[in-house]
Amino acid sequence: MATRNDGPRRSARRRAKARPRGPRFRDRHWLYQEAVQSPEVHFRFFDRVFRERNGRPPRALKEDFCGTALLAAEWVQYRDDNTAVGVDLDAPTLRWGREHNIAPLDDDEKKRIKLVRANVLNVTRPRADIVVALNFSYNIFHTRDSLREYFLAARRSLGRGGVFVGDIFGGWESQKPMKERTRYSGFTYIWDQARFNPLENFGEYRIHFKFHDRGGIRNAFIYRWRLWSIPEVCELLREAGFNRIDIYWEDIDRSTGQGNSRFRRVTRAPNSEGWIAFFVASVSSKRA
Ligand SMILES: C[S@@+](CC[C@H](N)C(=O)[O-])C[C@H]1O[C@@H](n2cnc3c(N)ncnc32)[C@H](O)[C@@H]1O
Repeated sequence: MATRNDGPRRSARRRAKARPRGPRFRDRHWLYQEAVQSPEVHFRFFDRVFRERNGRPPRALKEDFCGTALLAAEWVQYRDDNTAVGVDLDAPTLRWGREHNIAPLDDDEKKRIKLVRANVLNVTRPRADIVVALNFSYNIFHTRDSLREYFLAARRSLGRGGVFVGDIFGGWESQKPMKERTRYSGFTYIWDQARFNPLENFGEYRIHFKFHDRGGIRNAFIYRWRLWSIPEVCELLREAGFNRIDIYWEDIDRSTGQGNSRFRRVTRAPNSEGWIAFFVASVSSKRA
């Protein structure tokens, strides 16, 4: 049975979540957070996989590629003794995060979070219970050597029993030129798979926003990613010293045909046009 400290606290973001009106509504970071990020869903998953391996929930989180650090800011509100370090290269994005996600925290929460402007390859301290690389950000590494170097940095960032969590997407639709539209209150989020080069498994993915009254933001974000496959990711994690790697596959809701944000550990998976999975990597003394 979870104690109060082990259980989720009501999300301040949900409390603060305003109807999309005014200048924030026109802001690409605000729109991205609304459309793409669901920290509370991730936290349930982090708790579960860490608890399965350590019998307690994680406290110290390191969010690599943190962007506006929404996840890190929510993490320090989720439990009274959680701590978070967010790492990102981009100063304006971090500034936006400090202003909109860190400034509203109370003094105690602010003491438990730190944002660092740096390359994820160079930050391995303080050690964390859980290191996360979300929204496929590690795909910015285009060679085996550079991805292995990142995975090595992630492993060196972990304390005893620590886990490294990242998401992966794939399926034949992930390589197909297409635009996928999702409606939200006041705006539509457009995921644009602009081009794909099969010689390098290299794709250009863009995010646009269209406002329901008028106008929008084209090319709000552009990502140039190598699409790494699950076996490649697992091989490189092993080469970086992880010896326990589990894959969690997203369940599909039968009524909608869409992923339902519930993930199950699998050793086989259905071949499908589009899928999302998590890897959870750790160093276990029980497995050679
Ligand atoms: C797709 S966004 C991810 C934002 C957030 N983590 C999320 O889950 O939505 C990728 C972020 O990675 C940052 N980034 C790219 N290369 C990086 C590197 N080598 N070190 C640190 N941050 C990097 C970018 O500045 C950008 O904010």
